Amino acid sequence: MKVLGIESSCDETAAAVVREDGRVLSDVVASQIAEHAPYGGVVPELASRAHLRAIIPVIDQAVAALPQGLDDVDAIAVTHGPGLVGALLIGLSAAKSLAWSRELPLVGVNHLDGHLLAVYLRRDDEDEEPPPEMPYVALLASGGHTALYEVRAEDEILLLGQTRDDAAGECFDKAAKLLGLGYPGGPVVDRLAKSGDPHAIDFPMPMPSRKNIDFSFSGLKTAVAHHVKEQGVPTSESARADVCASFQRVVVESLVRKSLRACEVTGVPRLVLTGGVAANRGLRARAREAAAEVGVSVHVPPLASCTDNAAMIAYAGARRLARGERDDLTLAPFSRAPGYKRGKIRD
Ligand code: KG4
Ligand code: ZN
Repeated sequence: MKVLGIESSCDETAAAVVREDGRVLSDVVASQIAEHAPYGGVVPELASRAHLRAIIPVIDQAVAALPQGLDDVDAIAVTHGPGLVGALLIGLSAAKSLAWSRELPLVGVNHLDGHLLAVYLRRDDEDEEPPPEMPYVALLASGGHTALYEVRAEDEILLLGQTRDDAAGECFDKAAKLLGLGYPGGPVVDRLAKSGDPHAIDFPMPMPSRKNIDFSFSGLKTAVAHHVKEQGVPTSESARADVCASFQRVVVESLVRKSLRACEVTGVPRLVLTGGVAANRGLRARAREAAAEVGVSVHVPPLASCTDNAAMIAYAGARRLARGERDDLTLAPFSRAPGYKRGKIRD
């Protein structure tokens, strides 16, 4: 079965065709970064308009990779939330129109399920690692979400902890903005951090208690703002690198500690890192190092599967279809994460 996935929840218009075993046949992403960069973040109305311009060309390109084009598609999967409602509606309308006119099954996909199952996508890379068995603990850290889950089965995902304020990616973006580094902040902070001293500035560790596995990043953002107010925006490359390295060390340490604590309390020795922040080289390296010390294996999907993409939506949709699930044309968008059942955590 070949599933066409459509994703338009935030600032990427994406379409992909994926087989039910996770094999990616095409994967097209049109990024709106240039559109939003002057504002230092995603502007919802601009996002909707950019999705509208991109959606048909992106779908055309995704199905062009199939010998018979759209005729080879067996089902349509579409992100129906969480996300910006105006943005979601563009992908949903396209998906419903195609499903109706081609008489194809339609399934809505929770964007977070897509991220959490992205580790099963196969892209024919030579150095592709085998995916982990279930259950695994997943850290989903992106611009909009930061949470820990226990993925027991495709349809049994427990929420273990989440951010009480900003997402980790949002914190990277806000810190970069304060430092005059542009948008999105994650990649540039990551690059600068490499040459900086991670102990140059003593930023506070958020929520250091081992009792819970929730996150908080807004205090760290304020600490960067105070630093900039007192010391000014760093002007030399080395001073910028020191702030980035010190900031990144604290974010990474918080993410890694809580993730490994989640593995400890669940007794699950497998950790998946996913979402845009999983691209961070400091996070990948520190997670592997700290996990090895406690016998936890770390699995990180290739970069193109970590950031927003439609292949993960197509795959999660294919799994829903395989379970016999279907949606109809009344499928509606939702803006907030629907409740995953909260897992019980011992302290
Ligand atoms: O998953 P994603 O593409 O979109 C959302 O669903 O939000 O994640 C984008 C976020 C942005 O906040 C970006 O700054 C962050 O991921 N990001 C990074 C890196 N690459 C992207 N954060 C830290 N280090 C990186 N290398
Ligand atoms: Zn995402």
